Amino acid sequence: MRIFLGVTGASGALYGGRALAALTEAGHHVGLCVSDAGARVISHEVLGEGPRPHSYRDVAERFTTMFARSPGAVDLLAGDDIACSFASGSAGARMALVAPCSTSTLGRIAGGTGDNLIHRVAEVMLKERGTLVLIPRETPVSLIQLRNMVAVTEAGGVVLPASPGLYTMPETIEDMVDFVVGKALDVMRIEHSLFPRWGQPDVAGVLPGDDS
Ligand SMILES: Cc1cc2nc3c(=O)[nH]c(=O)nc-3n(C[C@H](O)[C@H](O)[C@H](O)COP(=O)(O)O)c2cc1C
Repeated sequence: MRIFLGVTGASGALYGGRALAALTEAGHHVGLCVSDAGARVISHEVLGEGPRPHSYRDVAERFTTMFARSPGAVDLLAGDDIACSFASGSAGARMALVAPCSTSTLGRIAGGTGDNLIHRVAEVMLKERGTLVLIPRETPVSLIQLRNMVAVTEAGGVVLPASPGLYTMPETIEDMVDFVVGKALDVMRIEHSLFPRWGQPDVAGVLPGDDS
């Protein structure tokens, strides 16, 4: 399947990285678009080189190399490439994830006032009744941001906050990130083993009524 992945400038670039790894590992073809602010956050959080990279494109390429599990499974798309196939409903792609999703991108999508490829793809998913999942990371949230989440939800999108459950007893940051990415893949109906399911033997809890 062809799936669009937008990585924007909210903290949590690793959500985008692990999503890219999981989608390519599952055999999907990913159209990846990193916003300029997304590249800043990747440079700071993932590459450890601070938030002022000399080249956004270079950051996005290195991010792709780090996380894509299958060479050739990723098309790295520029933020202004609104002529690419994902930007048109007629091209048939019906699945998009924005991870992480800044409140700024959330607002653009909610207001229908987008001006880059990530906004446009989200708009296409909503108008075509495809699957759109946004992973915002912000706290606390303002009334405006809450209303934007409501607007996207009313339009058919899924707002999936970066809020990892702890009942899986995560041991690493990657475990926590994978929980959120796994929940997104559940919404997208993509099989994965990113976190142990409640009630499965490798979850440290025991289901009520399970005394085995
Ligand atoms: C290091 C860093 C961390 C940021 N963290 C967040 C965040 O957690 N959530 C958020 O909504 N914006 C965050 N921002 C601000 C966004 O990057 C900013 O609003 C930007 O305009 C978003 O642009 P984009 O949506 O095109 O990526 C952060 C910025 C930087 C530089």
